[in-house]
This record gives sequence, structure tokens and C-alpha cells, in this order.
Amino acid sequence: MRSLLFVPGDSERKLEKARTSGADVLLIDLEDSVAGDAKAAARVVASDFLKEDSNSGGPELYVRINALDTGLTDDDLASVMKSRPAGIMLPKSNSSRDVDLLSAKLNVHEAENAIAEGATKVIAIITETAAGLLAAPTYDRPHPRLSGLTWGAEDLSADIGARTARDDRGCYTDVFRMARAVTILAARAATTTAIDTVFVNFRDTDGLRAECLEAERDGYTAKMAIHPAQVPVINEAFTPSPEAVDRAKAIVGAFAKAGNPGVVGMDGEMLDRPHLLRAANLLARANAAGLTG
Ligand code: COA
Ligand code: MG
Repeated sequence: MRSLLFVPGDSERKLEKARTSGADVLLIDLEDSVAGDAKAAARVVASDFLKEDSNSGGPELYVRINALDTGLTDDDLASVMKSRPAGIMLPKSNSSRDVDLLSAKLNVHEAENAIAEGATKVIAIITETAAGLLAAPTYDRPHPRLSGLTWGAEDLSADIGARTARDDRGCYTDVFRMARAVTILAARAATTTAIDTVFVNFRDTDGLRAECLEAERDGYTAKMAIHPAQVPVINEAFTPSPEAVDRAKAIVGAFAKAGNPGVVGMDGEMLDRPHLLRAANLLARANAAGLTG
């Protein structure tokens, strides 16, 4: 999973376009991009799209439901779970207990719809409120449903009363840098995918590319998109390059050839277990992206 494209759940036209966007995952949105009076209609459009699309071999389909405290969650789930989405995105997750609560609800919907228990994955957005950001350490163990953790800047700015999330030079200010950093740590602690947040200036391809490269450098392995034009940029940035794959193979090979010791030398450089782990992770990502491992 490299790219996850948001699509407003009430837009048949955008849903149709998204199908061929090249995104690894579509995030069919019932939350912020859908107005209050369009929620009910969006549930129907989203469910129909999910039904049509099952077994198509295209992107994985997730639904972003409304937050647990909105009173909309149960109707969202009742509607879309009949159409068997691959996963649910939980916004404004205020601690790992919210993931547990959603998971309990999913158990019921899975039972009602003859879906195998636990088959529906969950991606949680963990920094959209101050409380959520401060609770990032609660994602401290693997959860069988979690397929990723991500963060959000827009709702967090609103919650803390920040006028903007970025300074005059376009860099995130401290609170948002903290959110970005703790999401990487929480995702690692929960052994799941770290997914970087959206880049909202969808015409600024260079800005997006730069942000992708920084995210990849820092440990993110995927990024959300809001516009189809962002998908190829994200896919390219998060697909390991042929050089990186060759080097990872050489590292794994060097350890194997030496009988799997703690440390080896390669091209005059010391390599120990963290290098081996990093190489193995990169090869796993290359495999997932369809490159030969
Ligand atoms: N998914 C699928 N198709 C999309 C799309 C998306 N996220 N965003 C744009 N498109 C389509 C448009 O419908 C348009 O197709 P058309 O010409 O056949 O109608 C084409 O791509 C070009 O769109 P463009 O004119 O460049 O943008 P726009 O002004 O129509 O839309 C946004 C801009 C921001 C409203 C739109 O990109 C969008 O809805 N993004 C998702 C928003 C969202 O889900 N937010 C919640 C998470 S933060
Ligand atoms: Mg939001």
C-alpha cells in the first residue's frame, strides 16, 4: 500500500474516475467531504459502488465513516458493511480504545453479513484532536484489524485553535511536526503501516513530490491523496528504486552467505542487524508493489 485516494462518497462521477486512478486504496469518504444533508445519500452511493466493484481486481476499497461521537457511525456501518468493504477508516480516533470499540462494532456487522470475523481492516487517523495526539502512545501493540495509522492537520488546527499548520516558509509548526513524528512511532509500535497525511495544494506537484520524499526518508511508506493527479507522484516516491532493491538484495545475500552472523562487512562498510532488517523491509515493500523481490 503506497497511495490512498480520498473520494467524496456522494460523487458517482469521482468514484468512477477513482477506479482507474492507479491508487492502491480508495478512501470512500462519508465524513468531512460530505455535507450533513448529503450523508444519507452518500451511504447509498458508496454502498452501490462497493457492490459493483467487488472482485474487480482494482484498488482496495475502504470507507471513511463519521467519528464515533457524531451519532452517525452506526448508520454508516449498517449501510456499507452489507457491501463488504476491505476496510474502514476511523477519523478522530482518540486512543487505541476507539479502535477496539470500532472493532467490536465490526464483529457484529461481520456476523450479520456472513463476513469472516476480523476480515474488515481498520486504518485510524490518530492526531485530529489534542486528546488523540496525546494518546498516540496507546497504539503500543499489534491489533489484528489495523492496517495503518495516519495523521491529520486540518482538524487538529481547528481543535487547538491554530490559525495555520504551516509557517511562512511552508514548514509544519511544532504541534504538527509532533503529530507527524508520533504517527511514525505509533505505527511502528503497533507494527502497522505509517501513512502520511494529505498534501492539499493539489496543483503543486513539486511540493507534493518533496513532501513524499521527506516522508519516505523519515519512515512513512504510504501517503494519502485528494486528487487523482497526486497518485502517480505518490506511487513513484514510495516504490523502492531498482538501485535500492539491488542494494537490499546484496545486503540480505551478504548475511546469508556469511551464515547469518550479527555483523558483516560489505564494500568497506559495516552492516549489522538493523541494516538487515531495513533491507528485508524494503524488499517486502518492493514485493508488495509488484517488483520482483
Ligand atoms: N477522486 C476522483 N476523481 C477526482 C477527485 C478525487 N478525489 N478529485 C478530482 N477528481 C476528478 C474531477 O471530478 C475531474 O473529473 P471531470 O473533469 O471528469 O469531472 C477531474 O478529476 C479533474 O478535477 P479538477 O478539476 O482538477 O478538480 P476539482 O476542482 O473538480 O476538484 C477537489 C477538486 C479538491 C474538490 C477534489 O479533488 C476532491 O473532491 N478531492 C477529494 C476531497 C476529499 O475527499 N476530502 C476529504 C479528505 S481530506
Ligand atoms: Mg477531517
